[in-house]
Amino acid sequence: MVMDGHINAAFNLPITVAFCLTLVVVCGGYSRHGSRRLPDDLLLGAATASYQIEGAWDADGKSENIFDYAIHNQPCYAIDCSNGDVAANSYYLYKRDVEMLRELGVNFYRFSLSWTRLFPTSFTDKINKAGVEYYNNLIDELLKNNIQPVVTLFHWDMPQKLQQLGGWLNNNIVDWFGDYAEAVFVLFGDRVKYWITVNEPFQICEFGYGNAILIPALNLTGEADYICTKNLLLAHARAYHVYDELFRPKQDGIIFITISTEWFEPADNSNIEAANDANQFWWGIYAHPIFSKHGDYPRIIKERVALKSRVQGLPRSRLPELSPDEIKYIHGSSDLFGLNHYSSAIAYRNASTYYYYSSFTGPSHDADAGYMSYKPPEWKIGESDRTMYAPWGFSKILAYIRNVYNNVPVFITENGFASHGGLVDDDRVTYYRGYISAMLDAIDEGSYIIGYTAWSLMDNFEWWNGYRENYGLYEVDFNDTSRPRTPRKSAYVYKEIIRTRTLDMNYEPDMSIPLTFDLL
Ligand SMILES: *[C@@H]1O[C@H](CO)[C@@H](O)[C@H](O)[C@H]1NC(C)=O
Ligand SMILES: *[C@@H]1O[C@H](CO)[C@@H](O)[C@H](O)[C@H]1NC(C)=O
Ligand SMILES: *[C@@H]1O[C@H](CO)[C@@H](O)[C@H](O)[C@H]1NC(C)=O
Repeated sequence: MVMDGHINAAFNLPITVAFCLTLVVVCGGYSRHGSRRLPDDLLLGAATASYQIEGAWDADGKSENIFDYAIHNQPCYAIDCSNGDVAANSYYLYKRDVEMLRELGVNFYRFSLSWTRLFPTSFTDKINKAGVEYYNNLIDELLKNNIQPVVTLFHWDMPQKLQQLGGWLNNNIVDWFGDYAEAVFVLFGDRVKYWITVNEPFQICEFGYGNAILIPALNLTGEADYICTKNLLLAHARAYHVYDELFRPKQDGIIFITISTEWFEPADNSNIEAANDANQFWWGIYAHPIFSKHGDYPRIIKERVALKSRVQGLPRSRLPELSPDEIKYIHGSSDLFGLNHYSSAIAYRNASTYYYYSSFTGPSHDADAGYMSYKPPEWKIGESDRTMYAPWGFSKILAYIRNVYNNVPVFITENGFASHGGLVDDDRVTYYRGYISAMLDAIDEGSYIIGYTAWSLMDNFEWWNGYRENYGLYEVDFNDTSRPRTPRKSAYVYKEIIRTRTLDMNYEPDMSIPLTFDLL
């Protein structure tokens, strides 16, 4: 990071200035006026995902994915009994979406592809022309406006047919996902230079296979989740190798996985091990096989699950092991560390629930992990319990990645704040300022951060929270069939951060002036 004049201005004594120039860490780059420069080459953008915004669930040849199928059969899956049938209707309103991105002035837009919109049979025997045309239009509209597409191959909307075949539990998924990825690189790789293979493996495997929070809601904890983990890592690696070997030489892009992280801080010195377990069982299980020096699952997880499985009388570990070839195949299979981060938690060990050696319980991911956690109520700055405000945790996780994974470049692919509606979202503004500042702390300390992505460009279908939790820089009126989008205060603030490449803690936008963009 290049230091700028602001730092000097903050201190009067020359000796302090000299001290700060050598110790950026301590002084953090604040000016007297509470503003900080962002690195010139840091990419800034916003994100969405297909099922959450597109709607048009059965339009023009698209077939059902697991959310279409499950929610149509169980209409009150989401807390407000809503679904993504129409969502923000971006299938029809994508031009307005690109206008919003131009209003913000972003460098890139992260969105995901709907597998069943492109390949209604789930396989690559039949390509749906209308689906290809939709994404071609979106990509071309972005590029025309100098906005880079950052494209996620899989953001949770598994084809229903593949789910009937077992989804992530069927090891053929490695071939199916590889075929899908290859077909997509052929279709769009001439123009897309940033690929994300899979979004948030922990949420897919733990919430969807280990629990019943996310579709397919298998609720087979300590078993299905671990099988999912192995197949997902191998499928991700397949897509990586397909790109690396067959497409990169011509298309010259980058490809990586996005891992959702929560930072677990020990409650006190006696709980350091518990917090480490929490971090490993949440996201280390995905990061370690790819980014650590030697690959494979974290040792603590392999040993713990193997031991508990043995005590439970099982002939082998519930965590299927990776063969030496598989370890090699997965190791290093990501150009960057794609990082989603929203909040932190305090972790501790509760002796009575830590049945490390106990055989009384059946398979359980939580029992294997053996930690408890909570979020102090004073972290709550808005209406949602999910995005509790602890920006220091963001710096800590970035420091961990820097130190433990050899300063692999990081692309922050999601960070954002949930509210329950309203245009004057001062809580979201506080959150973004705090978290971007924490990211700048990590950059000052040496973290290698390539991009930062606000989740989300606009309000959308927030899975089990339906339309109750809103993350949008733009509010979407879901009661109006034309789905109008209106910029929130946070959109004005983010635009100013991008325009000035400066985080100004005191900037107050005039929301009576509409957000606009320069005409081409
Ligand atoms: C998930 O399984 C547990 C037993 O392991 C059961 O108590 C719980 O009700 C199940 N949840 C759902 C939503 O099926
Ligand atoms: C510890 O676990 C026991 C048994 O599950 C539970 O009743 C108690 O509330 C837990 N204590 C804490 C501090 O979490
Ligand atoms: C949509 O309608 C519901 C129910 O009438 C209401 O609670 C909500 O505030 C409305 N949302 C918007 C964005 O107007």
